[in-house]
Amino acid sequence: MTDKKNYPNPELGINDFGNDFIWGVSTAAYQIEGAHAIHDKGESIWDRFVSQKGKVYQEHHGKIACDFYHNYKSDIQLMKAMNIPNFRFSLSWPRLMPKGEGSSSQAGIDFYNRVIDFCLECGITPWVTIYHWDLPQNLEDKGGWTNRKIIGWFENYVRLCAKHFGNRVKHWMVLNEPMVFTGAGHFLGVHAPGRKGLKNFLPAVHHAALCQSAGGRILRSEVTNATIGTTFSCSQITPRSNNKKDALAARKADALLNRLFIEPSLGLGYPKDIKVLQRIEKYQRPEDKKNLIFDFDFIGIQNYTREVVRHSYTTPYLWAKIVKATKRNVQTTLMDWEVYPPSIYAMIAKFNTYENVKKIIITENGSAFEDSLKAGKVHDPQRLSYLKHYLKEVHKAKNDGLKVSGYFAWTFTDNFEWAEGFYPRFGLVYVDFKNQKRIVKSSGKWYRDFLRPLFD
Ligand code: NOJ
Repeated sequence: MTDKKNYPNPELGINDFGNDFIWGVSTAAYQIEGAHAIHDKGESIWDRFVSQKGKVYQEHHGKIACDFYHNYKSDIQLMKAMNIPNFRFSLSWPRLMPKGEGSSSQAGIDFYNRVIDFCLECGITPWVTIYHWDLPQNLEDKGGWTNRKIIGWFENYVRLCAKHFGNRVKHWMVLNEPMVFTGAGHFLGVHAPGRKGLKNFLPAVHHAALCQSAGGRILRSEVTNATIGTTFSCSQITPRSNNKKDALAARKADALLNRLFIEPSLGLGYPKDIKVLQRIEKYQRPEDKKNLIFDFDFIGIQNYTREVVRHSYTTPYLWAKIVKATKRNVQTTLMDWEVYPPSIYAMIAKFNTYENVKKIIITENGSAFEDSLKAGKVHDPQRLSYLKHYLKEVHKAKNDGLKVSGYFAWTFTDNFEWAEGFYPRFGLVYVDFKNQKRIVKSSGKWYRDFLRPLFD
């Protein structure tokens, strides 16, 4: 850790986490696959978004990305060589159903069959996310997440996934970070599809929450012995001061960023702390209250940082603002996110307070730092330090008796980081995008050695 804050350097062994702890890496289709228009693959909202000027850092796009579509074998082999026993990846809806509804693509089905079969052949367990942000553009043209019809479209898509892959895939996640794709994609307009404002955000939230539980129910009925989860972004929220207004602002930010999707799934409804959320009622039908609920086998939490929040008169509805990490003189990653390991402990503790959350798995955690390839090597001490310190907190949580059953590092290889393009590199493995070469970074070598006892 470079040095604005000195955490003692932790030395942990995998045995400290116990035999049943689940270890892996996480990825997402659009961020790695490339092959954006191969065979009959349909256009996704990200394919469209990246083609619009000024939306993504230096007009980067995922047309090729890591070309995982063609490199999946060597990537999975590398995973195996790095002792990684679980691989979380997502399915691309428009690759499997080009228009998002109606007919499916045999080429798309074949591709994921190859990936799943090869994982199993290598002794790697596939963990599949159904939706990681790449909605078919054809559905977006019909309103996408703002159109209630998305529930039926989504259910059919989940059925297709269950039918084709459910005999081999037993670990499922319905949605990836619904708060982010609704907030960034439907309120702020900085992610695809670039929609803005409450009129898009509120229906998108409600429909995503309904799809989350509906997807869970379909997997439960169609896949024997499935373990079913969904994943949430979350960050510890610290008020900037102890004054009442900042404390209230922090409570609202917590409701929005950490509670918005978990609570309806547990039958607790949408958080009441933010008044404007009551307007979701406009989109609610009487049966929704019960349909929002699903008894997930596990909750995936994805934590990277914490947020410091203050009261703001200029932020309508929320009256709260995030104080940027760069303004706080703290160590940050390339995303301008504070490096703050206790946040992951705080989030494990927070999700432990929900009585009906059965299991918690860290489905993402990681960091972007400047990497450089020198003499064929990538030395990334900051990422390694981040990884060790966050793991130390996960371990502490487990030791303190909190439920936490697994850890997936974000991410395997450097990849397309959405609106930030390829600039922030999060990988344990460096990708030279000029020639698609993979170079295991020193953090990746550490993770490999850390995981080795699993196979001793
Ligand atoms: C969360 C998202 O699920 C993933 O797609 C993204 O790349 C990482 N966080 C890092 O921002």
